[in-house]
Amino acid sequence: MRNFEYYTPTRIIFGKDTHYQIGDLLKQGNYKKVLIHYGSGSIVRSGLLKEITDSLDTAGVSYVTLGGVVPNPRLSKVYEGIRLCREEQVDFILAAGGGSVIDSSKAIGYGAANPWTDVWNFFLKKKTPTDCLPIGVILTIAASGSEMSSSAVITNEDGWLKRGCVKTDLCRPKFAILNPRLTYTLPQYQTESGCVDILMHTMERYFVNLETMEVTDSISESLMQTVIYNARILMNEPGNYNARAEIMWAGSLSHNGLTGCGTGGGDWACHQLEHELGGQYDVTHGAGLSALWGSWARYVYKENPERFAQFATNVFHIPCGLDFEKTALQGIQAMEDFFRSIQMPTSLHQLGLDLTDSQIHDLAFRCSFEDTRTIGVFMQLNMKDMEKIYHMANADHTND
Ligand code: NZQ
Ligand code: ZN
Repeated sequence: MRNFEYYTPTRIIFGKDTHYQIGDLLKQGNYKKVLIHYGSGSIVRSGLLKEITDSLDTAGVSYVTLGGVVPNPRLSKVYEGIRLCREEQVDFILAAGGGSVIDSSKAIGYGAANPWTDVWNFFLKKKTPTDCLPIGVILTIAASGSEMSSSAVITNEDGWLKRGCVKTDLCRPKFAILNPRLTYTLPQYQTESGCVDILMHTMERYFVNLETMEVTDSISESLMQTVIYNARILMNEPGNYNARAEIMWAGSLSHNGLTGCGTGGGDWACHQLEHELGGQYDVTHGAGLSALWGSWARYVYKENPERFAQFATNVFHIPCGLDFEKTALQGIQAMEDFFRSIQMPTSLHQLGLDLTDSQIHDLAFRCSFEDTRTIGVFMQLNMKDMEKIYHMANADHTND
């Protein structure tokens, strides 16, 4: 196993009605001006924005608001937020929404606190931020894990590049309020895409080609089983509080570093491949991962069939004989069957894309940073490998 450091400073406030504490929480922090940052209107329609502003008014906390964050959040909105923070002397950002809103908040926090450079340089990994405005979260969708993570992903409309920021602990939220009831209004597609993203945050760390820790493996396998079980429940019972709660907590645990302890940080090839789909074709992140994972898995599993066989047995209870490759393939099939059972795509066609060879080439070219980097550790993938995986995903293998 690898040495590791585990740091997860975010205070979690979990459960029914917890968001009503927001005014008092911010008052205790003695913040002078809060930016309430949100998306394209779901929190206006649900009444959450009014509940937040009422709570801040009652506590006597000043604020400004900035909505309009879209999925695959844009750099132009980040610039708008940075300007607003400067004009209004904002000293705290409250992200009320999902991963897109949280990531936009983190980018604004970096930009406002580092006026010496353009914030996009942190996403091009040319510069490293030295500070960030403090961030708090009221989460409305269980998916990205950004409420506890050290990362942020932003899309630059100039070239449609979707890139992850340099990872630092500076942007980890000070607190995250997780009220599962706030997720009841989600469309089913978003709920289930979120479940795939949560699974993938564990699987990216689980599928590494090195000796891991038994305790970390057990936590990961249990998280995966919990998400699979409750994602199925939510297909028929979107108002099931316990299932929403299990998914929400699993979402945070899957991306706060816990499942990477001893595994050397993870593989992350599927995420890299998917970010190009998000940047170019604006697909929903979890659905994009679902469309790619099976193709990635079939391309790489022979590097370490035992690991995939362990996954098949411990997550899907598939008996394992001596033929690890056969069990590995059964495990991959089982995960794809699960994706289909929650109406998630297992090919790019099902994701609504029909890509030409040249479009696929372009995705691989971008993902490999113009053929200058490899991705993944389970198997290191160069540009040609990436192209092959996109091609496999482009072929509909629903009836495999
Ligand atoms: O914008 P609004 O109107 O709020 O609508 C959103 C959006 O359309 C809607 N929604 C959210 N909560 C809702 C709701 N609709 C009704 N009721 C609610 N309670 O859902 C849609 C998706 O929201 P979004 O924030 O985009 O979803 P998610 O949390 O899946 O975030 C995805 C983004 O996070 C990034 C992804 O790349 C993607 O850009 N990620 C960030 C990570 C991180 N910072 O650590 C890690 C992840 O791997 C991921 O890459
Ligand atoms: Zn993700």
